[in-house]
Amino acid sequence: MSNGRVEGKVALVTGAARGQGAAEARLLVAEGAKVVLGDVLDDEGGTVAAELGDAAIYRHLDVTSEADWTSAVETAVGRFGGLHILVSNAGISPRPRSIVDTRPDQYRKVIEINQVGMFLGIHFAAPAIAESGGGSIVIISSVNGFVGAGGIAGYVSSKFAIRGLAKVAALELGRQGIRVNSVHPGPIDTPMVQPESWGGYDMRPALAATSPLGRIGTPDEVAELVCWLASDASAYCTGSEFVIDGGFLAGPFNALGTDA
Ligand SMILES: NC(=O)c1ccc[n+]([C@@H]2O[C@H](COP(=O)([O-])OP(=O)(O)OC[C@H]3O[C@@H](n4cnc5c(N)ncnc54)[C@H](O)[C@@H]3O)[C@@H](O)[C@H]2O)c1
Repeated sequence: MSNGRVEGKVALVTGAARGQGAAEARLLVAEGAKVVLGDVLDDEGGTVAAELGDAAIYRHLDVTSEADWTSAVETAVGRFGGLHILVSNAGISPRPRSIVDTRPDQYRKVIEINQVGMFLGIHFAAPAIAESGGGSIVIISSVNGFVGAGGIAGYVSSKFAIRGLAKVAALELGRQGIRVNSVHPGPIDTPMVQPESWGGYDMRPALAATSPLGRIGTPDEVAELVCWLASDASAYCTGSEFVIDGGFLAGPFNALGTDA
């Protein structure tokens, strides 16, 4: 059921072809927004946008490309009349390798997409959001923006870095009516953790077993938090971190002291 939580607003969602980004685009449209979906998976992204009808449009948006950012922002303003919400969600998580075994170019690629891509999003979208009267920028980090994990140095480095980036942006943009917050999901059931990305290996049962709630999260659960941050319901929140992790960061889970 829609409550019109973002009625009259225009949003740009990156990494919207699948997973959490697609769920966020769907919920924002259901709640009244017009949405530009950006991704590098053009077939999948076009399919999601087509399913959403006139309130959505897909644009090829490689978050490392300045030209793509310019064109996506122009699409939001030209097609839907402004821009109020940026959900900077696109990210990659390569196969784990130790720092010693990671080539520098492999590390740089993750930083370029997960970190520089977030900088470019704020750089290109904030002026349009200010011109539209203000709005909300939501940066998708991770629990790995708070804690390390062996084998994913680039991912962890980038997710820590964008937590800081969001705070700087909040300080710089608050007086222009733009709020900036970071979201920190724990394990979420998307292609990023599904067997097709891991040569058939299903890591989800192991992730669920170490979760205090006994399961991993869903893209729709993250979309709810993102929609709230995008909406005026969160009008006094900026420069903050919003964790949605099933208790992952509460501490190492073991079954002692539970009924499990
Ligand atoms: N799934 C998890 O367990 C989890 C946990 C914490 C944080 N996250 C973060 O959530 C965000 C969404 O991930 P997801 O779980 O939906 O995974 P996903 O792999 O399903 O989705 C990521 C999307 O980003 C897109 N993308 C990749 N490189 C891009 C680029 N250069 N330009 C534009 N789009 C690009 C992909 O094509 C894909 O559609 C990511 O930032 C990820 O790091 C995921």
